[in-house]
Amino acid sequence: GDVAVLVPAAGAGVRLGPGGPKALRLLGGEPLLVHAVRRLAAATSVHTVVVAAPAADVIAVRELLAPVAPVTVVPGGAERQASVAAALAAVPVGPEIVLVHDAARALTPPELVESVAAAVRSGHDAVIPVLPVVDTVKEVGAGERVLGTVDRSALRAVQTPQGFRRSVLSTAHAAATDPLTDDAGLVEKLGVPVVCVPGSEYALKITRPFDLALAEHLLTVGG
Ligand code: C5P
Repeated sequence: GDVAVLVPAAGAGVRLGPGGPKALRLLGGEPLLVHAVRRLAAATSVHTVVVAAPAADVIAVRELLAPVAPVTVVPGGAERQASVAAALAAVPVGPEIVLVHDAARALTPPELVESVAAAVRSGHDAVIPVLPVVDTVKEVGAGERVLGTVDRSALRAVQTPQGFRRSVLSTAHAAATDPLTDDAGLVEKLGVPVVCVPGSEYALKITRPFDLALAEHLLTVGG
């Protein structure tokens, strides 16, 4: 394997309702993070997995994941970006492809991990999995007043894992100023091309209670 995967899993999960860090919420009786790491470890290209856990849960997460796959667990930060930076700093010498994958995308198939890694391996510096946007999207201003309609055909919903040549991700994080919601955004700021590959419906981000209910269903039908 020539791939390291960073898993930011230090978020509070406020939008999922009360119940502790999101990555440790149960799906089919197991934490979201366990589902995510199991699927990452099933991708044969993956050599190293580094998880950024809530600082108070580092030891518990280490114990939780030990039977699932060999992983390194580090304390995360206050923002997702800080959690990714902490995980990146713990990647050993070796892997030249680094993927960043949200623990909340717990049902992401190993095939998607491989397709993102393969696109980086084939020569792209930065690769993101995307889906078309199905809803019409409008920009709104004060008082929920519509300012305009965005051309949907030019929009994509972006998932993880996002894949990078290791040096590109390191440079992007070193240069980062304002926190962004994804890592490709940091790379875009460097002027490095980011390319899209087809995403997967199973890579949905489990964010709200509805998503968790959907994920429970997908799991029972073989997700
Ligand atoms: O908040 P959001 O849904 O964008 O979080 C995406 C991922 O980033 C989640 O897996 C979450 O656990 C992680 N995260 C983190 N550290 C933070 C905030 C979020 O690792 N401080």
